[in-house]
Amino acid sequence: MDAAFAQDIHQGLTADQKYIPCQYFYDERGSWLFQQIMQLPEYYLTACETQILEQYNEELLQAFRAGGQSFNLIDLGAGDATKTKSLIGPYVDKGIDFTYTPVDLAPSILSALSDSLDAVYEDNLRYNAMNADYWEAMEALQSSGDPARKVVLFLGSNIGNFDAQQSMAFLQRLKTYLRPGDLVLLGFDLKKRPEIIYQAYLDTKGTTAAFNLNLLHRINRELGGSFKPNYFRFYPAYNPQTGVLSSFLVAQKEQAVHIEALDLTVHFDQWEAIHTEISCKHTQTDIEALARAAGYHIQAQYTDKKAYFTDVLLTVEA
Ligand code: AVJ
Repeated sequence: MDAAFAQDIHQGLTADQKYIPCQYFYDERGSWLFQQIMQLPEYYLTACETQILEQYNEELLQAFRAGGQSFNLIDLGAGDATKTKSLIGPYVDKGIDFTYTPVDLAPSILSALSDSLDAVYEDNLRYNAMNADYWEAMEALQSSGDPARKVVLFLGSNIGNFDAQQSMAFLQRLKTYLRPGDLVLLGFDLKKRPEIIYQAYLDTKGTTAAFNLNLLHRINRELGGSFKPNYFRFYPAYNPQTGVLSSFLVAQKEQAVHIEALDLTVHFDQWEAIHTEISCKHTQTDIEALARAAGYHIQAQYTDKKAYFTDVLLTVEA
């Protein structure tokens, strides 16, 4: 049993406003469900960012290898790397000197990624898949002493899971592993018509609901929980003022859930909700303010044709 998981679930389910930290979505099943989400027509984020990475492929390459240097593309939360493949495919074809370092928590996703990289690029891509969390990976890369420029990819609006304060803390901590000249490519989902955002999370196939309910299955499996997932219903809510899409699992009736490994019984009132995730949507102004406040400089920025999504290329200020 994972002690941190147990402790976090205990804390979250005994809080006044119950919550489950969103990093726990990504067990094997959850990672697989997220791959399905990325293919949903409603989930525009993936298609928009893929378009950006294809369209600005050459510009990005020029920035990555400024001065003709070798670089290490560190893909935090790579998953199946569908988006990243559209970025690196052309680099491999051109014989560019770089290393690809996908980092992910789910071992089976990572080994499937490795197999597909072998199949597609054979010996033409130098890669180093790391089954680790972000900071373990950054730590290991730092102590490896590799002189290549680091280019950290944090794509897909992963940063949207953080509130303003957490985003700031994340970028500041990331900076401690970077040297002047290193780069960060950050994907942000932009504010847009609220119904478009809302529908991206309330998809008609119910995949996002299954992704959220998987948290309850995971607690049952790993901590001996007695959740009946069908007693809960997924509900997303978008606030167009704050740009925060919040996800909830709502109890359909009053119930008690026992979690063996925690020696805990959790009571739910009818309509009581468990908060599972925030997915923040940004404006140009708040992106610029965040980058500056965290001590980065925006070197370039790329946006898709519909202006739904943007990738910001940051340099570390000397
Ligand atoms: C991977 C955090 C970017 O918030 O949009 C997708 C996760 N949750 N559908 C997001 C997610 C529900 C996703 N991120």
